Amino acid sequence: MIPYPASVHEAEGAFVLTADTQIRVEPPTAPLLALGHDLAAHLRPATGFELPVVTGAPAAGQLRLTTVGADPALGAEGYQLMIQPDAVTLTAPQPAGLHWGLQTLRQRLPAASAWPTVQPGPWLLPCGSVRDLPRFAWRGFMLDVARHFFDVPTIKRIIDLLALHKLNRLHLHLTDDQGWRLHIARWPALTAIGGATAVGGGPGGYYTQADYADIVAYAQRQGIMVIPEIDMPGHTNAALAAVAALNADGAAPPLYTGTDVGFSSLNCDDEWTYRWLADVIGEVASLTPGPYIHIGGDETAATPPAAYRRFIERVQTLVQACGKQMIGWEEIAHARLLPSTVVQHWHSDDARRAVQQGSQVILSPASRTYLDMQYTPAAPLGLHWAGYVEIKDTYEWDPATYLAGVAEDDILGIEAPLWSETLTTLADIEWMAFPRLAALAEIAWSPANRCRWDDFRIRLAAHGARLQALGVNFYRSPQVPW
Ligand code: ACM
Repeated sequence: MIPYPASVHEAEGAFVLTADTQIRVEPPTAPLLALGHDLAAHLRPATGFELPVVTGAPAAGQLRLTTVGADPALGAEGYQLMIQPDAVTLTAPQPAGLHWGLQTLRQRLPAASAWPTVQPGPWLLPCGSVRDLPRFAWRGFMLDVARHFFDVPTIKRIIDLLALHKLNRLHLHLTDDQGWRLHIARWPALTAIGGATAVGGGPGGYYTQADYADIVAYAQRQGIMVIPEIDMPGHTNAALAAVAALNADGAAPPLYTGTDVGFSSLNCDDEWTYRWLADVIGEVASLTPGPYIHIGGDETAATPPAAYRRFIERVQTLVQACGKQMIGWEEIAHARLLPSTVVQHWHSDDARRAVQQGSQVILSPASRTYLDMQYTPAAPLGLHWAGYVEIKDTYEWDPATYLAGVAEDDILGIEAPLWSETLTTLADIEWMAFPRLAALAEIAWSPANRCRWDDFRIRLAAHGARLQALGVNFYRSPQVPW
C-alpha cells in the first residue's frame, strides 16, 4: 500500500471477490452511489464481475461503503477499512474519506486487478483492519502546461493517477513567457496570440473555459482541488506579446519559445495593468470553486524590488476582493502578506519570512520534489540545476525539520512541481512523475514514523506491478528491487 496507512492490523483469512459480490452503499445518497459505481468500474475490467451497486439490507459477501456510525475523529479525509471473510466494510464520516479508503481497497487486491482486460484471479483481500487519515491537508502535484500544452484527456489521466495515491491538489501553471493557456473572455488575444506556441516553437494550445470547468469538475469528483496559477509580474511574455497596452512603450514583444527566465515584467506602476488584472483574476475566480488562486510571483529579475512589493500587495487585495486566498511562490514573502496568504517554498529561506507574518507554507524544495529534475546524468528528460533527484531523494526527508523556522504546524502540506521545458507527451509526464510522485504521496500522507526507505522500496517494487497494469510509463529506478 502506498501511501502506507496510519495504522494497519493484519488477521487470518481473506475475503474472496466473486461473480456474486455486491457493492452496498448506505445511505444511498448521490455521492455514495457514485463512489460505489467508481469502485465497480475499477474492478470490473480485470475481474469480469458485474459488481452491482445495491442499497437494501446487508447480506453476506458484500463490499460495504457507509458513513453510518463513522468516527468523527477521522475528519474530512480519514476512513476505516475492515476486511472479514464474509464482508468488507469501509466507513468514513465524509465521502472524501470513503474515496481515499477505496484507493486502499484497490491496493489490497492483487495488482492484476488493475489490468484493463480479464485476468484469472483469484481475487483475495487479506483480512484485517486499517484506520487511516492524512498527515498533511495539502498533498499536491503541479503541472506546467505553459512551456508545453497538455490536452484535457491527458490532464484527466493524471487526475486518475493522483487519486490512486491519495493526492488531493492539482496546481496548473497556466501562464508563462512561452504560453497563456486559459481563455479569458474579456481578453481573447491572450490565448489567440499568447497560446499559439510553446517551447521549441510547436503549436501550443489552450483550454476553453468549458474545458477548464470540465477538468475542475472531473478532479472534484476524485477529491482533488484544482489550483489555477496565473504567474505575474514576471513570466509574462505571452501576455505582453498578446496585449500591446500592457507594455510601457505600447509595443508588443514577439512570442518567445526559448527557456530563459527573468526577462519579462508587467508594468507595475500603470493603473491600466491593474484594471486588466482585475478582469483576469475575476474570470479565473469565477471558474474556481476552491478557495485559492496562485499568482506566481517568482523570478522577477526584470521588476524593480520596491515595485514588486507594491504589486504583490495590490494583487493580494484583488484576489481577496474576489473572495479568494492568494498563493504565491516564496518570493512574495518580501511583501506584506495577509495571514490567509499561502507561500510556496522552492529553494531559499524566504518561507521563514512568511511564517513570521503568520502565513502557512507549502513545501516544494527543488532538490527533493521538482519532478523535472533528471533522475541521473544519463536520464534523457529533465534539467539538473537543483541536482539529480532519484526516488530516495524525494522520499527521505521530513517536512517538519526541513526548513529552520518552519515547524509542522506552519506547513499546509507538500507539493511536487513538474515543469515542462523538456516534456511534450503524456508518456514523458508519467516517466518523470512516477514513481517519484508515489514517494511524495507517502511523506505527505503517512505518519513520519512510518516513512522508512528500506520498507518503502520493497512496497514500491510491488506497486510497480500495479502501475504497469494501469499502463503507466514509469522509471524503473535501480534503487528499487522491481
Ligand atoms: C520556480 O521554480 N521558478 C518556482
